[in-house]
Amino acid sequence: MKLFDVYPINNINIVKAQGSLVWDDKGTEYLDMYGGHAVISIGHTHPWWVKRIEEQLHKIAFYSNSVEIPIQKELAEKLGTISGKKDYQLFLCNSGAEANENALKLASFHTGRKKIVSFKKSFHGRTSLAVAATDNKSIVAPVNETENIVFLPFNDEEALKDYFEKAGNEVAAVIIEPVQGVGGITVATKNFLQLIRSVCDKHNAVFIADEVQCGYGRSGKFFALDHANVNADIYSMAKGMGNGFPIGGILIAPHIQPKHGMLGTTFGGNHLACAAALAVLEVIEQEALLAQAKQNGQYLMDQLKEIDGIKNIRGFGLIIGFDVPDELKDLRKNLLAKHHVFTGEAKPNVIRLLPALTITKAQIDDFLQKLKSEIRELKKAEIAHSIAE
Ligand SMILES: Cc1ncc(COP(=O)(O)O)c(C=O)c1O
Repeated sequence: MKLFDVYPINNINIVKAQGSLVWDDKGTEYLDMYGGHAVISIGHTHPWWVKRIEEQLHKIAFYSNSVEIPIQKELAEKLGTISGKKDYQLFLCNSGAEANENALKLASFHTGRKKIVSFKKSFHGRTSLAVAATDNKSIVAPVNETENIVFLPFNDEEALKDYFEKAGNEVAAVIIEPVQGVGGITVATKNFLQLIRSVCDKHNAVFIADEVQCGYGRSGKFFALDHANVNADIYSMAKGMGNGFPIGGILIAPHIQPKHGMLGTTFGGNHLACAAALAVLEVIEQEALLAQAKQNGQYLMDQLKEIDGIKNIRGFGLIIGFDVPDELKDLRKNLLAKHHVFTGEAKPNVIRLLPALTITKAQIDDFLQKLKSEIRELKKAEIAHSIAE
């Protein structure tokens, strides 16, 4: 049987990983500035995470949500403390799309309304409502097309006010990534996020922060929205939550009431996933990773700003993007092939850096040195090419 060929892949077989380093089957070492797509939060194969999962595996891996699962309550307690949202409620699921699907559905149940406000260049996942709220027609199947989603320009306060004046009382939810990931690391302004809070309050709509990529400490605060000093009604989380063990969830404000049967999942919140998620939070706390992400991210950003050739360096903490001009278009490809560094991309010309929150300053320096060296090479080749012409 063949695999269903939907992923454009690099011809590299990673067989071992530790912290921010990974190794292929030939023993070649790679620096992971991509965090396996923002998933690796506390570093690959962190010993505490391995121990926690291993110990849980010997006790029980799974039982359905029809019985008491105390480790879910332990996770909720810890998450409430570390995120500073102690009075919120936790619903557990398995992925980012599922988290957003449940968030949007819950907003609709809560308000009795249908309209969702989303933003241009947003990405919220591939399940039916999440993909409908994603601004990329090529991944929306005909069956997922709906009139219920409106896409407004990102960071455009006037457009948001105008829409709410016209149709605010029909809006179930506004969903936004406080830092757009797939869209190219675009940071929502503080004013824009505060305006979303106030229009949602005025019209009793639900404010959903999609923190699947930018949340869980990556920005230097637990949620990227925390930088704007406002609270969302629902936060969706996934990637960094399990450090590679599949788990997602939503944090739900106290005024949104649950009802039996309203949401549900077979695998969500299983013992093993909760053990992985608890290990992540324990390491974030023990190793003060929010402060480290802030400090190392600022250092990386400051150093990137000194490099001639790359443009518009932006982000927070360890979610950083920059534009690559046409003359350096092979930069990402060469970083991987020649310097053995994984980075992320956002089409058409953005490099995304999403390393583990545990990345060391020495590893950041190693990356910067490789980046500068490759930029020099590409510029030299460009000059030689233009002389030859
Ligand atoms: C902001 C955001 N939301 C949702 C998702 C979907 O998450 P998943 O792939 O776990 O379904 C992603 C994935 O890249 C994302 O970046």
